[in-house]
Amino acid sequence: MRQGWALITGASSGIGRELAYILAKERYDLVLVARRKALLEGLKNELKKLHPPLSVEILPYDLAKPETPARIFKELKRKKIRIQFLVNNAGFGTSGPFAEANLQRELELIDVNIRSLVELTHLLIPDMLRYKEGIILNVASTAAFLPGSFMANYYASKAYVLHFSEALAEELRPYGVKVSALCPGPTATEFFEVAGSAQSLIAKGKLAPLMSAKEVAEIGYRSAVKGKVVVIAGFTNKVLIQLVRLSPRFLLRKITALLNKPRERTRP
Ligand SMILES: NC(=O)c1ccc[n+]([C@@H]2O[C@H](COP(=O)([O-])OP(=O)(O)OC[C@H]3O[C@@H](n4cnc5c(N)ncnc54)[C@H](OP(=O)(O)O)[C@@H]3O)[C@@H](O)[C@H]2O)c1
Repeated sequence: MRQGWALITGASSGIGRELAYILAKERYDLVLVARRKALLEGLKNELKKLHPPLSVEILPYDLAKPETPARIFKELKRKKIRIQFLVNNAGFGTSGPFAEANLQRELELIDVNIRSLVELTHLLIPDMLRYKEGIILNVASTAAFLPGSFMANYYASKAYVLHFSEALAEELRPYGVKVSALCPGPTATEFFEVAGSAQSLIAKGKLAPLMSAKEVAEIGYRSAVKGKVVVIAGFTNKVLIQLVRLSPRFLLRKITALLNKPRERTRP
């Protein structure tokens, strides 16, 4: 008995890739989105071998391009695929003083982490409402609870995802559609390399031990099925976020700036 179709953005590595393994095992057919086609093809072949009745569609598209969500939606309609489980996971970070940042890259971050998530969700909700079933798992971060100097745009983008998901969860609950915001803390993936912060104290596990992408994905899947709205991954991260809730904002600004501050800076 198949469960229906799940769409995962950012399925080529890290947490998204692990969610693909879990959803395939849970008998979902999969639509996998990310830019690196070879990685998606490899994953597709592996999953089909592991779970023979599985169908997998790969869409090697760039979510920083504004036309991508509509292109994905058109492909789904053409293939008569209705999505029951949407995982908005694709995302990346940038690091360093915002004044010195590459603006184009910062705007791409907003396009991938926020714009594509909002648009895909909006395009896929109508069918979920019509059939009174659906699960939306948005990958935010523990960064969503903090002002994050030297990763200002990234932290702010995750605050958006958290608040958007919580609001949507309340709107859609009466219609049988569940929405969760998964908030991982530091996780061992390509994330820190891509963000250029692999040498930071956080990436080195000095704040909280790095969790594996598999652990985080399992927590995300289980919680989304239960309809848990805010999901902080792991015990240490839960404790840290409780402390964040009790701390004055000025202190949080100082601590996060200290943790994220690049080791060598060219300008104050
Ligand atoms: N790792 C952590 O410490 C951590 C903590 C909290 C939250 N998160 C969040 O978890 C999510 C997954 O990240 P991860 O840790 O698994 O990192 P990752 O290994 O770098 O995975 C990021 C995924 O996003 C995809 N992606 C990036 N830019 C894209 C674009 N323009 N178009 C399409 N896909 C794109 C990547 O695929 P391609 O490169 O193939 O396009 C990749 O599959 C992100 O939203 C991240 O912010 C991570």
